[in-house]
Amino acid sequence: LKSLPLLARGKVRDNYAVGDDRILMVATDRISAFDVVMNEPIPGKGELLTTLSLFWFDRLGPKGANLCPIHLTGDDPLSVVAPEERAMVQGRSMLVKRLRPIPVEAVVRGYLAGSGWKEYQQSGSVCGVALPDGLRNASKLPAPIFTPAAKAAVGEHDENITFDEMAARIGAELAERIRDVSIRLYQAASDYAATRGIIIADTKFEFGLDEHGTLTLMDEVLTPDSSRYWPAESYREGANPPSFDKQYLRDWLETAQVDGQLWNKQPPPPTLPP
Ligand code: C5P
Repeated sequence: LKSLPLLARGKVRDNYAVGDDRILMVATDRISAFDVVMNEPIPGKGELLTTLSLFWFDRLGPKGANLCPIHLTGDDPLSVVAPEERAMVQGRSMLVKRLRPIPVEAVVRGYLAGSGWKEYQQSGSVCGVALPDGLRNASKLPAPIFTPAAKAAVGEHDENITFDEMAARIGAELAERIRDVSIRLYQAASDYAATRGIIIADTKFEFGLDEHGTLTLMDEVLTPDSSRYWPAESYREGANPPSFDKQYLRDWLETAQVDGQLWNKQPPPPTLPP
């Protein structure tokens, strides 16, 4: 976009400043996993992710279950873009409040997968949360667990941390509020998804504080980029479920090689594709 100043270009989303208190978040069609951004975009992905985020913001935020304040301003994102650029952002943008981001990813797991399954096999726990013996890949957990991850600098992997580490970084009271609301958000979303034949195995939320210090849900919510979506009809404990999300890319990156080197160990590209 030329009509707004670029604030930050993420792996998948581009953020533009709208004055000093709002941001236009544009979801591109890029796909990334493990800090690798693929060269080939997926046409329509940005629109799909935005549509899903808006659906969940409506359902869980002040207009719906009212579980948490949300970052949407309620204004039309097209109103802040020059007329000739509106088609570029239509359907793939959100006009949001500028918040002070909390540097912790709020991950909730209802099932064992990904780094949760790996940690459990090594230690019987995930992020310090002890789990019963005998769980298998994709097992449903007795109750959803909160397993935070620390946001790493660009080019480094996020790292799972314990709740106590999170509390030491951001304060115990704030950490507890984030844990409680994240579990409530996950529970409400996964209950609804279950009525549509979808298991939300796990997901990641991000929060920020507004000018009054109010904890606010931000970024994308409950999309297949930030969650594992499993079709309930083919779910089997112990098996790798088919996934309506980017698990295919993660699995491929974990084994694919370029010039004898694992893809996910490649240095990040010097610049992101447009
Ligand atoms: O890979 P892992 O098992 O730790 O991921 C747990 C959940 O958090 C998954 O739904 C994943 O999509 C999400 N996640 C994310 N961004 C990260 C780390 C995890 O969206 N940086």
